Amino acid sequence: MNLYKYVSNAVNEKLGTKVNLEVPKNRDFGDFSTNAAMVMAKSAGKNPRELASEIAPKLAELDFVAETSVAGPGFINIKLKDDFIWESASQSQSPKSATTQTIVLDYGGYNVGKELHIGHLRTTVVGDTFNRIAKTLGHKTISYNHIGDWGRPMGLIIAWILEYGMPETANELNKYYPASTARAKEDENWLNHAKEITSQLQSDNPEYRKIYNNFMKISLAQMDTLLKRMNILPFDVTMGERGVAEHVPTVHKILESKNLLTLDDGAQIINVKREEDNAPMPPLMWRTSADTQTYAAADLTAIYYRTQQNTPNTIGYFTDNRQTLHFNQVFRAANLANLTDATLFHTGFGAITGPGGKPFKTRDGGVASLSDILDIATDAVRERVSESGKTLDEDTISAIALAAVKFNDLMHDVRSDYIFDPSAVTSFEGRTGPYILYTAVRLNSVLKRATFDADATYMPMTTDERNLLIGVLDFERTVISAFENRATDMIANYAYDLCQLINTFYHNCPILREDVPANIRAGRLHIAKTAYDTLAKTIDLMGLTIPNEM
Ligand code: ARG
Repeated sequence: MNLYKYVSNAVNEKLGTKVNLEVPKNRDFGDFSTNAAMVMAKSAGKNPRELASEIAPKLAELDFVAETSVAGPGFINIKLKDDFIWESASQSQSPKSATTQTIVLDYGGYNVGKELHIGHLRTTVVGDTFNRIAKTLGHKTISYNHIGDWGRPMGLIIAWILEYGMPETANELNKYYPASTARAKEDENWLNHAKEITSQLQSDNPEYRKIYNNFMKISLAQMDTLLKRMNILPFDVTMGERGVAEHVPTVHKILESKNLLTLDDGAQIINVKREEDNAPMPPLMWRTSADTQTYAAADLTAIYYRTQQNTPNTIGYFTDNRQTLHFNQVFRAANLANLTDATLFHTGFGAITGPGGKPFKTRDGGVASLSDILDIATDAVRERVSESGKTLDEDTISAIALAAVKFNDLMHDVRSDYIFDPSAVTSFEGRTGPYILYTAVRLNSVLKRATFDADATYMPMTTDERNLLIGVLDFERTVISAFENRATDMIANYAYDLCQLINTFYHNCPILREDVPANIRAGRLHIAKTAYDTLAKTIDLMGLTIPNEM
């Protein structure tokens, strides 16, 4: 149940107007409060406190309300009945959207021949979590990994392979692009050579195509390994710049028929500036003067292709915020050319940095790859665990490290920058992934040691017990808001708040201790199970796994 919405609707209906419902900080007097009387006082020509004392008894008539009271200048506190909370929390918490959509999601978008790096963390983690949220709500999602597999980097890599041979491993391959790029910076002939190869590859030169297919395999396998390690749902479609290339001519015709292409110094561009623009809005580059496909052309064509293929209601992108202008241009061009009816959105992330806002570097001073980040976190967790005198198997340590990295990524507002501090994110206390997992593991270990009675009822509840169940009843609202606001941080922060409630309950409400009467034990087990189930769902939305022990 979406408790907030339920109570809010009932209160609105009772008062015949839309009121503001809040969750007060001090919950001793009410689970919810409203300033309705203060808002309505003026038009009713009454003083707010007087009006509040008229409204409060009306709200007390609602069948789920235990009592109401008036506080301060005219706030009305609403306290819910225990049995209502109990019954509602005992149902499975499964949020569903009122209307379901088909949603194309574009995240990942890794580059072939280059190792995934820290800059790919957020697109991967946030994209995957958003996908899980949408699926839970009943939407149909199609996730696209729009890989960078057709631009100049391909020419640079092939040039290097022609000179130094086919790499055998991904680690070897990953060195080719930087080496070839460095050479191109110093040697113009090399650059032109790479450009020429790129252009010929795009017009299907069989020799280049063969080399390309070979290193592509190595690169895709490496991507796959890392995505599995990160517990990312498999992409529905891995199709990027090359995959859409065959549809470029179709889109080209559409653009031509609408007179949208302009020649500019040999290149073809689309003007997307509008009169009302204050900020600069450069034209979109459709085709280079060397007659090669552009980054923007791939994205524009992908909109066309996905619309034909999936008839989505929405197409959403998750990339870093330096691409905001790019997507703005692409969306405008798509609208001008009428390529889709779908709603288009782009969520742009801030940057992840090391201490002091500088780029995060590994110990030897190199740029951190995504697997370096996971390794660093894994080492930090291993160290903590051994310091605490525990022994945990490597799978558990990896799961904790992954939770540390992903949770930390999710808990920040996507648009803001954050500093990655391996020691802070792997702490078992505070707002961290390990803390979330630890809470789940500990609660589960109680549940494993006891038999659970699904029909238990137990009244009246203590404040800690009812607060926990009310927390559980905020799950549906959280998932729906996270989806509507595209704010995956809401899920992470909900998980933390729920864990706080669980731990307060755990400390103050003994369950298995011998002196606890049987009915109280059964009741608390029921509460524990309810909380655990909802926490487990929340953890799953973040793509984390709960270890058996910690
Ligand atoms: N390959 C690009 C890069 O690493 C990101 C792709 C983002 N997605 C897209 N549809 N353009 O910069």
